[in-house]
Order: sequence, then structure tokens, then C-alpha cells
Amino acid sequence: MPVAQSMNRRAKVGAVLVTGGAGYIGSHVAKALAATGRRVVVIDNLSTGHRGAVRWGELVVADIHDVARVRETIRRHEVSAVMHFAASSLVGESVRDPIGYYANNVGGALALLEAMVEESVSRFVFSSTAAVFGDPVETPITESHPTRPINPYGDTKLTVERALAHFDRAYGTRSVALRYFNAAGADADGDLGEDHRPESHLIPRAVEAALGGPVLQVFGHDYPTPDGTCLRDYVHVSDLARAHLLALERLDDQGATTAYNLGMGKPFSVQDVISSVERVSGTRVPADRAPRRPGDPAVLFASSERIRTELGWRPAFVDIDAIVESAWAWRRAHPHGYQEEAVR
Ligand SMILES: NC(=O)c1ccc[n+]([C@@H]2O[C@H](COP(=O)([O-])OP(=O)(O)OC[C@H]3O[C@@H](n4cnc5c(N)ncnc54)[C@H](O)[C@@H]3O)[C@@H](O)[C@H]2O)c1
Repeated sequence: MPVAQSMNRRAKVGAVLVTGGAGYIGSHVAKALAATGRRVVVIDNLSTGHRGAVRWGELVVADIHDVARVRETIRRHEVSAVMHFAASSLVGESVRDPIGYYANNVGGALALLEAMVEESVSRFVFSSTAAVFGDPVETPITESHPTRPINPYGDTKLTVERALAHFDRAYGTRSVALRYFNAAGADADGDLGEDHRPESHLIPRAVEAALGGPVLQVFGHDYPTPDGTCLRDYVHVSDLARAHLLALERLDDQGATTAYNLGMGKPFSVQDVISSVERVSGTRVPADRAPRRPGDPAVLFASSERIRTELGWRPAFVDIDAIVESAWAWRRAHPHGYQEEAVR
């Protein structure tokens, strides 16, 4: 088949390659893609992900640095678009180990993009983060807010965003970077949930504390907020998944490279989340007061106006109790999280 004809065919019927699809957000997006009839193939090295989370599409256990393996996967599955979740994403760890973070998040993304360019795949949806903004100079945070990350994790994501503009000019790789605020909750059908080890996110930690796990540490009680605890923006993981489908549609419609902020647009305090977990679980959340953590701003929330206006994204979960309920239900049904460790 002539090259142009083959590329055209692949764009129409091609699979979506989901890197990091054994992880929390990638697995939810893989399910959402499959529900729209798209074929999915996952590449994941299972460093933090779970085999049991990959149920929609083949799992290729590989590292994204392995350009030959990624190219072979693209060819075998006739991949026409890539959604890139595979990364290391613990802020504190990134401060202690910048080499590892630049290697995995920047080096890994470059290897993946190289494979895409070599195989003429030109659509890329990238998991970016609110951490690209650093300390907010104003809230809500719009796309035009200055990007001055204050930790290596945020800087690795911004570095990839910057590279993407150059990849578009040089190779025609069109991309949408989605800067998530705090992903939260679990699949409404109970198929998937959040299982990070260690878990650094507030909602699963508060749920764990309610169930008799470690006492929740609340960092800082003297912020200039109504109850003294930090205000953050939580966006349900299935709403994030819908945003990825819309981003892919934009790329399918020849939309230009861009970045969108993605949050519910309504801040909740740490105390609000604790109260929500208590309402949902009917149990007290044992919590200890801990000092502020360096680098934690008082208030962080997104303006998602641009993605709402341009792509028609609307979060279905706008109530913190509904988000917490989904996390609670998954945790109750999976007290030990995914259970495939023995077969890794
Ligand atoms: N969870 C959040 O609230 C949040 C917020 C902002 C941005 N993000 C970004 O979203 C993405 C997904 O986050 P998550 O919470 O689902 O994380 P996760 O750790 O659950 O998933 C990441 C997945 O990538 C895999 N992976 C990591 N490095 C790899 C490599 N070199 N090769 C192959 N696979 C590799 C892991 O095994 C894991 O399955 C990340 O890029 C993260 O930085 C997450």
C-alpha cells in the first residue's frame, strides 16, 4: 500500500496508545476510549501501575524509553494517536531525585515522541499538571498565568510542554497538554480506582484513616483561608477521561497544538474533604495537625473556562461528596487495592 494511503487508513481505524494505562488516570481513560469504540493498546512498565487495571486493550509490559519496542507496538496495532500518562509524579521524590524525574518524565517523553515521529503518528495528548504554574500570583489559574514551577516534577512537565511546540513546528506532531489539578474519585461502575503505593493524595488517605489506617496528617492550620487549611481543586477522574476524548476529537479535527487547565473550578479545603469523608463513611477521620509543608500555597484552583468554551467539556461531578463516595465505594470493595502483585 502506498505510504500516504497507509497513513490515511491508520488515522481512521488506528488504535490509541495509552502509555501508563495501568495507572490511575490512564486506566480510566482507556476504559472511556474503549466505550467510544476506539481500540486501545497500553504500554506500561508496571513501576507504579497494576496489571489488573488494564482491561480494555492489550497490555505491552515495556518502558517508554524502549524506542524499538514502542515503534513495533505502534506498527502492530496501527496506532494513530498517543495519550501519554507514564511518568513519575511525586513532588517530594522529585526534589530528592531530580535525575530520576528528568530521566523518566523528559527523557521518556522524548523517546516516545521520537518513536511517534519515526512512525508518522502525529496526535499526542499529554498529562501535564497544575505544578507547571508554581506559586499562584492569582486564582483561579487561567492558561495565561505565568509558568514558574517550584519543583523538579513541575519543571519536567513544563519542559515537555515546551518541547511539544517545537515538535509541532519541526515534525507536525500536534498535541493537547491537559494540566490537571487534583485527580480524584473512582470509576462509577466500580471497575477501577486509585491505588498508589505510597498514596500521597488526600481523599484516599482520608478514606484510609476512616477505615482505621494511618492517622491523617493535615499540613498547616494557619493559612489565610476560612478554616485555616489549604484550598485545592478536585476533578473526578472520569471527568478527566472525558476531557481526553474531547482533546482527541480536537486533534482528529486538525486542531492546533495547545494546553488547557483542567479542574472543577471550585476549591475545597482540606477540612472540607475530611468532613465529606466523615459524611460519606459515617465515621470520624482521625487527623493530626502537622506543620505547613514548604512549597504548599494556600489556595490553588483552576479556571477551566477555555476547555469548557472551546471543547464543550463539562464536569459531571461538581459535588465533593459525590467524588468522595466513588472513592469510598471502590476502597470498600477493594480493601487491598489491585491484587495482582503475585503475577508481576
Ligand atoms: N493523579 C493526579 O492527581 C495527577 C495530577 C496532575 C498530573 N498527573 C499526571 O497524570 C499522569 C498519570 O498520573 P496517575 O496518578 O495515573 O499516576 P500513576 O502512577 O497511577 O500512573 C502512571 C503509570 O505510568 C507507568 N510508568 C511510569 N513510568 C513509566 C515508563 N518509563 N515506562 C512505562 N510506564 C511507565 C506506571 O507504571 C503507572 O502505571 C502522570 O503523568 C502524572 O504526572 C496526575
